[in-house]
Amino acid sequence: MNFHVMTLFPEMIERAMGESITGRAIKAGHISVNAVNIRDFANNKHNRVDDYPYGGGAGMVMQAEPVYQCYESICRSIGNSRPRVVFMTPQGRTFNQQMAEELSREEDLILLCGHYEGIDERVLEKIVTDNVSIGDYVLTGGELPALVVMDTISRLVPGVLNNGMSAVKESFSDNLLEYPQYTRPEEWMGEKVPPVLLSGHHKNIAAWYREQSILRTAKNRPDLLEKAELTEKERQWLIQ
Ligand code: ADE
Repeated sequence: MNFHVMTLFPEMIERAMGESITGRAIKAGHISVNAVNIRDFANNKHNRVDDYPYGGGAGMVMQAEPVYQCYESICRSIGNSRPRVVFMTPQGRTFNQQMAEELSREEDLILLCGHYEGIDERVLEKIVTDNVSIGDYVLTGGELPALVVMDTISRLVPGVLNNGMSAVKESFSDNLLEYPQYTRPEEWMGEKVPPVLLSGHHKNIAAWYREQSILRTAKNRPDLLEKAELTEKERQWLIQ
């Protein structure tokens, strides 16, 4: 997976992606991150890329031309292919695991980060294929949302997580939240690890995991539970 990020703050992207699991994935060649500064495509001597909005109103708007030239430059660098362009915006579709899985099948992905009040609509109409929001709140720019999207996609790329199963068998793929986890010591501040986990009885442990997942989902995300595949017995157990 090759990420190309159009941004006014490339260091934010490079620094964050260079850490931890994504950093290792870059070194190992599983993913690449190419952060391109839109300002490098400004066509005036002050390197300005924003201007006042037509019609008035607060804030500034990013101009179409530097954004478009940045996009063309990225496409040229990958043999003139035209990858999907994901625009990070609170006006987009809300990001979820299913969208991450779909996007993870692309070879190249361009992420467009806005700043100020927005980007001239004409360039968005020309290049954007997907409008994506990370939730119903407004950030100062698209960089953190782009990092959220790239991080989520990265861990689905083969080889990025050492344990091949850990990305699959997890929250959201089955619309159930994860069960609680414990490690040593067996007792901490007087609290014991649930005895079933020490029993070595794999069938009972699996049943306990399932039960905990269902209880957690019912408590914290009842909206998810409606989409989860529960047996009739599990549904009965939950309502009693
Ligand atoms: N830019 C500002 N806020 C955002 C959000 N919630 N999602 C995506 N992009 C954004």
